[in-house]
Amino acid sequence: MKNKETPQPVTTERLKASLRGEIQLPGDKSISHRSFILSALAVGTSKIHGLLEGEDVLATGKAMQAMGAQTVRQADGTWEVTGRGVSGLTSPDEALDFGNSGTGIRLTLGAMTGCPVTAKCVGDESLSRRPMGRVTEPLEQMGAVFEFHGVARGQLPLTLTSPQRALPIDYVLPVASAQVKSCILLAGLGAPGITAVTEKQSTRDHTERMLTLFGAKISSTPEGKGLVKGRRIELTGETELLATTINVPGDPSSAAFPMVAGLLSDGAEIRLNNVMVNPYRSGLWDCLKEMGGKIEEVNMRDAAGEKVVDYIVKGSELIGIDVPPERAPDMIDEFPILAMAAACARGTTHLHGLAELRVKESDRLAAIADGLKLCGVTVTDGEDDLVIEGCDGPVPGLQDNVPITTHLDHRIAMSFLVLGLNSEKPIRIDDSRMIATSFPNFFELMGTLGAKFIS
Ligand code: S3P
Repeated sequence: MKNKETPQPVTTERLKASLRGEIQLPGDKSISHRSFILSALAVGTSKIHGLLEGEDVLATGKAMQAMGAQTVRQADGTWEVTGRGVSGLTSPDEALDFGNSGTGIRLTLGAMTGCPVTAKCVGDESLSRRPMGRVTEPLEQMGAVFEFHGVARGQLPLTLTSPQRALPIDYVLPVASAQVKSCILLAGLGAPGITAVTEKQSTRDHTERMLTLFGAKISSTPEGKGLVKGRRIELTGETELLATTINVPGDPSSAAFPMVAGLLSDGAEIRLNNVMVNPYRSGLWDCLKEMGGKIEEVNMRDAAGEKVVDYIVKGSELIGIDVPPERAPDMIDEFPILAMAAACARGTTHLHGLAELRVKESDRLAAIADGLKLCGVTVTDGEDDLVIEGCDGPVPGLQDNVPITTHLDHRIAMSFLVLGLNSEKPIRIDDSRMIATSFPNFFELMGTLGAKFIS
């Protein structure tokens, strides 16, 4: 970032040559946050290889350090975290700043509730608008007390005072959210007996997998029938976690951007190495394959209890599809980039079940619809759905000099930059700073494949 205080607009132009080459994806954001938090709650020193050094994750690392864990970055990029043990975090001297990160604040509030901690938590403008009630309400049931200092109850900034000893709860999630599930399980580490979470619709299970890796007592039982599959997770609290070694796999949500760029580039052939495949994060791949995307998975292997593959992606002629609502949790972060693919496809794409998009880093449903309309694409936006009329090739692009508004949202920024590679007229975004929260080397890696960006 040249100057963090001022917006950094960027423009992309239509590709002159097909994308080519091979890149190694940065570490997964969800796993990186959890690596810092679980290592901080474990006994001993954990080693984390391949951590995503994006602003969001580093803010979580700083919070753990401020509460007594030791976090050290070695010269080779390995992070060593010496933990405090379950219930061992201590009150920080200053407010904890989570920047742009919903995952960072929501998971850390859970981890803190299981420890005797008082802490003030703040975030940036985007994070301060997002709902925290979905985690503070169950944490209050576990004994936490919250004071809200902002304009509305249930929003940052807030001060948490944890109970001396958390109470276990049996909680049914009202929304499909891995952050809420993880928050409660992390608080449950410090509670006696069994803390249970039931999700009516399964979400990413990285917390459960990593807790197992650290030696927690946790079990998961499938629930529900038909298309929507849920599960009940039970965790036995006050069980010590033991330090371990974590190899963070590449982030599928970041891989999504070069992948769609490759599919939209005529004659392209690119290879995306080291991408995690988790069944609860694979919705985008299902969609792109149904749309006719040429995507091959090779070299499947294991890392941090997850599967990892390399993808070979070729330029493809995409067709519009109907995306069912039950797929939404499996691709909750990928709708912005899927919408860009849909805008260039032949025919209509209908995306359903998008209500949660309204409470992400921005109101993503509105940001996608407004941005695509500015680029000359016909879009109909409903309360929780979007209909996109594909242009069967490049979109018209921005008709005047008004740039796309990114609303401090990294995924909106990257999505429209990818669309600009396949647009008659250039596409300009108003700000690119937030890309560093999740994909710090986005410009460098896209450049390796042949994309050009003008700042
Ligand atoms: C995440 C869960 C999802 C996702 C976010 C990361 C996680 O949020 O959008 O980027 O790491 O648990 P929700 O739990 O709000 O769906």
